Amino acid sequence: MATERTLSIIKPDATRRNLTGAINERFEIRGLKIVAQKRIHLTLGQAQKFYQIHKERAFYDDLCKYMTSGPVVVQVLEGEQAITENRSIMGATNPANADEGTIRKDFGESVEANSVHGS
Ligand code: CMP
Repeated sequence: MATERTLSIIKPDATRRNLTGAINERFEIRGLKIVAQKRIHLTLGQAQKFYQIHKERAFYDDLCKYMTSGPVVVQVLEGEQAITENRSIMGATNPANADEGTIRKDFGESVEANSVHGS
């Protein structure tokens, strides 16, 4: 078993609804430690650069606009197999397809406003 660190971002739809604490509880209850976190407001340029890999996708412009629509909480999660664990805690990208009990199933509003990012 390997201790890993992974990037997590609590997205604007979740900070807008005061879900930061509820989401952090999901990480901690599953044994992940939040070893760093900062609430910031991304600039459009930062969002575009971060999601560069998706720049040919139809949803790219809307995604970048949405990610700058309010504050985000950028975090470092640490724990045993943190990358796989976080994927499982988040659930599928589209909340409609996410498993019961995952963050995206319980809190996500849409495929775009899906409350958390992990990578
Ligand atoms: P994330 O895991 O941050 O990675 C890329 C993001 O793009 C994704 O979560 C969603 O917020 C968004 N996204 C992915 N697919 C779509 C889609 N079909 N329509 C709109 N947004 C999407």
